[in-house]
Amino acid sequence: MRARYDDIGHGYAQTRREDPRLRSAIHAALGDARVVVNVGAGAGSYEPRDRHVIAIEPSDVMAAQRPRDLPPAVRAWAHELPLRDGAADAAMSVLSLHHWDDTREAGVREMRRVARGPVVLVTFDQAVGGEMWLVRDYLTELAALDRQIFPPLDTLAGWLGGRVDITPLLLHRDCEDWMLGAFWAHPERVLDPAARAATSGFARMDPAVVERVVRDVERDLASGAWDAANGALRELESYDAGLRLVVATP
Ligand SMILES: C[S@@+](CC[C@H](N)C(=O)[O-])C[C@H]1O[C@@H](n2cnc3c(N)ncnc32)[C@H](O)[C@@H]1O
Repeated sequence: MRARYDDIGHGYAQTRREDPRLRSAIHAALGDARVVVNVGAGAGSYEPRDRHVIAIEPSDVMAAQRPRDLPPAVRAWAHELPLRDGAADAAMSVLSLHHWDDTREAGVREMRRVARGPVVLVTFDQAVGGEMWLVRDYLTELAALDRQIFPPLDTLAGWLGGRVDITPLLLHRDCEDWMLGAFWAHPERVLDPAARAATSGFARMDPAVVERVVRDVERDLASGAWDAANGALRELESYDAGLRLVVATP
């Protein structure tokens, strides 16, 4: 099986930096866990530095972007975690689940199997995410893809079992992690090839669609049409683009 991020992960760490507010929420959800398995660990964003971490990451391109002070990543897949039952105190996975294709349920059940305590996931509620101007008015093809790849939150809760708490994670204007949802405040980022390429929403799209979106956003920024439709966003400090913290306690 080829890792998708060996194709789309080049340059990821340049714009997808760890955001301090999101980091605090994720670390609080891990409670007092000492040993944490991080699934889809990527370049290491949000990985705690004060606990023992087992990083699981299938892509060489992503693993190569991990800073030297983080543990090296074990090349493995979520649905086949190379760990025994209850090997970790907690399991975490940040914005990875929607890349697990038809192994999503198996992967979530694997996280539950290997963690004695909380399973912490960061994912999107695609119904809310689809309301953001970029998806609703420009990159409309993404709404259909997102409906397929983001599991509905009640389905996810069923896979996890036990008690499941779901909390909105607002994206602040100054969010340092330039995920697609964080474009809500920054339409100019659509014109930046590096910013686009580090979001799977753009990276997985047909280049002709991306070209159209860039052309339309550029036109509407120049004419004032974007501000006429979305100018109220310029006054907001934070916004709910659908990002959710999901914490399952056995
Ligand atoms: C958007 S990146 C997120 C990386 C990191 N967690 C972060 O927050 O920056 C998604 C990651 O999930 C990984 N991934 C994709 N499919 C996976 C699978 N089946 N099992 C584990 N990880 C997977 C990708 O290789 C990629 O590193």
